[in-house]
Amino acid sequence: MQNVTVVYEAMNAMVNFETMKSQQVIVTGGAGYIGSHTVVELVGAGFEPIIVDNFSNSHPRVLDGLERILNRKIQLFDVDCCDESALNGVFESCLKRGNITGVIHFAAFKAVGESTAEPLKYFSNNIGSTAALLATMHRHGVGSFVFSSSCTVYGQPEQIPVDETAPFLPAESPYGYTKQACERLISDAHSAHAELNVTLLRYFNPIGAHPSGDIGELPLGHPNNLIPFLTQATAGLRDPLTVFGNDYPTPDGTCVRDYIHVIDLARAHVAALNWLKDQNHACEALNLGTGNGSSVLQVIEAFESANGISVPHTIGPRRPGDVTAIFADAKKAKDLLGWECEHSLQEALKDSWNWQKKLEQTS
Ligand code: UD1
Repeated sequence: MQNVTVVYEAMNAMVNFETMKSQQVIVTGGAGYIGSHTVVELVGAGFEPIIVDNFSNSHPRVLDGLERILNRKIQLFDVDCCDESALNGVFESCLKRGNITGVIHFAAFKAVGESTAEPLKYFSNNIGSTAALLATMHRHGVGSFVFSSSCTVYGQPEQIPVDETAPFLPAESPYGYTKQACERLISDAHSAHAELNVTLLRYFNPIGAHPSGDIGELPLGHPNNLIPFLTQATAGLRDPLTVFGNDYPTPDGTCVRDYIHVIDLARAHVAALNWLKDQNHACEALNLGTGNGSSVLQVIEAFESANGISVPHTIGPRRPGDVTAIFADAKKAKDLLGWECEHSLQEALKDSWNWQKKLEQTS
């Protein structure tokens, strides 16, 4: 296992080894934003998450936050998911201890703008890691696979709310294309491999943070997404937020998205894993959203009223590649997984601000 560095070698004494033997879940990108919140929910549901992450787009301090919340360490392999031989080492190491219940694959690059400048990096990392992971799962007979996809696969849908039967429109960016290509790759692997059971989870816009403020979204460098930029601008760490265009054909002229609390999103992964355990060769795409659309200006207003603070912002030009409006029809996830969102937009925005304030205190 030459390429595998076990960062947290000694498992904390509080680990329940009996549970570990039967319920290990490999979480690629588990040190990232959605991955880390999912790790918390997995532990709460009795699973033993094993993080595989090379910190190419996350920060090791996430591990301290996880330890504060969980009161124990989580095992981590510092591995590039494109490295099939290193992945093989991870699986072998886990299988020595017990079963691998499933794999959740978050690890991917996700900045739309960067993907246009560096498409090869996106293709090789996002598609390469998915192929390497599927090959490793197949080699070891691991069947349950939860894939981190995105509503970007729909492009600008003809009808909103959008459901899972909507066609893939030409991707607006190399990033979007990698999500479409990965879904195709996974569904082809599913057709060929009888042991595979898959959920393709199409996220809308995850926001918020763990209510403790111990983990949250921690973009490296300049934030591309709305909420991290908004919180940093409000904290005075950035220039005022630029609202990208107010001349869209929406009620207030700004783009509409479906903002979902990251804890609700994380819970959906646990529900998906539990559902997969009972399936016999399933492959289902599921939208994960609230079903409500909010414009950029509505998000700013909701943030201000939830937190009692004003958000410095200006109106700027449109951002290339933005879709005008998209929000989810999430009925299928409710019917299949028995999952639905529990947190409001205001709660999510409160938790985002709490996380930003705590981050400054502890940096
Ligand atoms: C995009 C992708 C999504 C991906 C996500 C992760 C598309 C269509 N969507 O989401 O699949 O998972 O990135 O990075 O490719 N905004 C501003 N000012 C800012 C930042 C954003 O006004 O400084 C606006 C945007 O124009 C948009 C909304 O806020 O209307 C949300 O933007 P963002 O958080 O970047 O997410 P998406 O572009 O929706």
